[in-house]
Amino acid sequence: MEVIHDPAEYQQRTLAWRRDGLRHALVPTMGALHAGHYRLIEEARAHAERVSVSLFVNPKQFGPSEDLAKYPRTFEADRAACAVRGVDLLFAPDAEAMYPAGFQTHVEVAGLSEPLCGAARPGHFRGVTTVVLKLLLLGQPTAAIFGWKDAQQFLVLRRMARDLAVPVEMIGVETVREPDGLALSSRNAYLSAAERGAAPAIYRGLSVAREAFGRGERDAAKLIAAARAEIAREPLLTIEYLEARSLETLAELTRAEEGNTLLAAAVRCGSTRLIDNVRL
Ligand code: PAJ
Repeated sequence: MEVIHDPAEYQQRTLAWRRDGLRHALVPTMGALHAGHYRLIEEARAHAERVSVSLFVNPKQFGPSEDLAKYPRTFEADRAACAVRGVDLLFAPDAEAMYPAGFQTHVEVAGLSEPLCGAARPGHFRGVTTVVLKLLLLGQPTAAIFGWKDAQQFLVLRRMARDLAVPVEMIGVETVREPDGLALSSRNAYLSAAERGAAPAIYRGLSVAREAFGRGERDAAKLIAAARAEIAREPLLTIEYLEARSLETLAELTRAEEGNTLLAAAVRCGSTRLIDNVRL
């Protein structure tokens, strides 16, 4: 497996794949790779002859009071994990290479970026769309693979690719979970033992709502209340938001619609902010 740090070199290499008629699937990540990322790599393999993983802790998507400095950085383990999974190329630029002096262009997906995590993290999605568009232009992939774990992020990025006619297939992969239901996340590493014990209540809450939906409940307020009640049983958890929204537009729903409902939550567990969701 080749490791490239220089953006121009990454672009040359991937353009050569294009010229040779090889499909290329890109998996964008911020490293600290776990089984959720591995699933994305597997999916990438199913869509292309060449797989690249980008590893870049993107400063533009972290707010001033967020965890950029302490975000887990495990480059050697990540490199080994990619190599054993048959990744062809690991692209690991540094911030100065991605955003050299004078950089001043940003991409913003207006509406979809506003609610949920967008409201709690001003500028976050503008940082995500800017870096992912740059990664797509550097890597010229035929497919890019994302997790539904970050559902709003996927919806925003898919919208961006459609709106700007980026010639890439945007693929979403189901959330990979621990046996107790907790969604895998690089941020789970921040949890104390007690917090780790409390965190699965987030998915339990979402699951309670999904079960109620399965029994025919369509009143969004009731589904949300059921999820909240389950999560509230854990005193270590504080709900930041828990909302039912349209999977198309992220408009708030009063009635859950089959196939078009995202039940999304952000929950504080100690000082760690965890997100999860289910689609109904
Ligand atoms: P990161 O948090 O490293 O996640 C990289 C990709 O892995 C994202 O598409 C995310 O949705 C997916 N992922 C994370 N946990 C997952 C899980 N438990 N199951 C399935 N997929 C999971 O998301 C980012 O990085 C960044 O915002 C990025 C898109 C790389 C832009 O900087």
